Amino acid sequence: MAKTYITTAIPYVNGAPHIGHALDYLQADTYARYCKLRGDEVRFQAGTDEHGNKIFQKALEADQNIKEYIGHNAKKFQDFIHSLEAEYTDFIRTTDDDHQRRCQAIWQKLAPHIYQDTYEGWYCDGCERFVTDKEHDEHAGICPDHQIPYKRLSETNYYLKISDFKPRIKSAIESGEMCILPEFRKREILKLLADTPDVSISRPRKNLSWGIPVPGDDSQVMYVWMDALTNYLTVLGYPDNDITDWWPATAQFVGKDILRFHTIIWPAILLGLDLPLPRTIVSHGHVLVNGQKMSKSIGNVIDPLEVIERHGIAACRYYFLRHVDTFSDADFTWEKFESAYNDELANDLGNLVQRLATLSAKNQITPPNFAPTPDDEYTKLMDSFHFSKAFDYIWDKIQDLNRHIDDTKPWALAKSGDREQLEQVMHSLVSNLLQANYLLQPFLPFISTRITEIFTASEITPPEKPLFPKSI
Ligand code: MSP
Repeated sequence: MAKTYITTAIPYVNGAPHIGHALDYLQADTYARYCKLRGDEVRFQAGTDEHGNKIFQKALEADQNIKEYIGHNAKKFQDFIHSLEAEYTDFIRTTDDDHQRRCQAIWQKLAPHIYQDTYEGWYCDGCERFVTDKEHDEHAGICPDHQIPYKRLSETNYYLKISDFKPRIKSAIESGEMCILPEFRKREILKLLADTPDVSISRPRKNLSWGIPVPGDDSQVMYVWMDALTNYLTVLGYPDNDITDWWPATAQFVGKDILRFHTIIWPAILLGLDLPLPRTIVSHGHVLVNGQKMSKSIGNVIDPLEVIERHGIAACRYYFLRHVDTFSDADFTWEKFESAYNDELANDLGNLVQRLATLSAKNQITPPNFAPTPDDEYTKLMDSFHFSKAFDYIWDKIQDLNRHIDDTKPWALAKSGDREQLEQVMHSLVSNLLQANYLLQPFLPFISTRITEIFTASEITPPEKPLFPKSI
């Protein structure tokens, strides 16, 4: 049985989850379910990133004890992942004792590639990283992601010698040994890699107290990205446990804003540890709201729980997996969401289920003998992480089936008394629905299970309430 390890970015716990956070989990979960369906044994990691100044500041502002503050927010993220019906197998908090201890052991293993130096440069508190002079000038001194001015910092820190690994990382990206998706981001990263200096991986404790202490140097605390990236290994028990069954990861899901950390610092850490590189890094776009970046100051942040409450989790998964392309930015508006629910989920899938179940019940049609058949086109799309395209492909089948009912008119066959023909037509329609429904399983797991139950029960009966009641 193939062993598949799938990871998601661990969000900062400096606030509540928003709909943008859903993408990592929904894409990773769909892929994980797809892999399980084809027989893989899957490990699926999720977690929370709990160190760093930003989080500490927020706890102070909220006048809360830091541990209570992060505990409270970590719980919100965990509940959120559950409500998305994302089936992770491992959850890690970077404040877990095991993670901190293992992260320190990783630092010690990396010692031959770490040195101390003093650096003066521009720093963004929001990104928690130094930016190059070029980036500073290009953005006129203001971070485009956080809208705060870069500040001048001079610090003596520990550095990771990215320079030791650059040629190896470059060739791994170029050859596809570490595949970066989508292709245009891969080209961006290759350019960025060429300009990347060695990276500072610690902060003086006087500037950052909320972090993992650097082993053997009380005056320094680990840089939050050094701490966070290692979660993908520590959650497997590294370096205490042998992780060869699970590492390298099959797919790591991250947003476009943090791809650079996962394709430059992360492979450098892995190479420094003599570990293989992940097979694929899937970088999704951002969710916008009415075409704008979500922000508290604009007041357009969408609470994912509100989306789920509106029409249930299936509608939420449907929108973010079909109407958000895996790799591009996409827009969320309540209007689009309503229309996806009413015009597609209710009209296409809900109706199809209701019509076929009603026709079956009325005419005492027994379930067909059904076994799913492999579908090459679907497999190709799923293997290349084109989830929204795979979803479109399934949807075409669902719409075709609705048309096919109109064309074959089973009600007319029933009237004509041609029982044999009626059974044949109905069995073919229901089998085709079950086949489309099988492909749907990774996307809408509970709806798919429900549809299977309806059409494989000894007596087919329509659901008392439509699967997707129309909203006005
Ligand atoms: N803590 C880091 C990740 C460390 S991984 C070792 C971080 N956290 S985050 O909370 O800012 O982001 C978590 C994930 O959510 C990232 O994959 C990020 O790209 C994603 N998104 C945050 N806002 C988003 C949107 N508006 N749209 C889509 N994804 C977004 O970065």
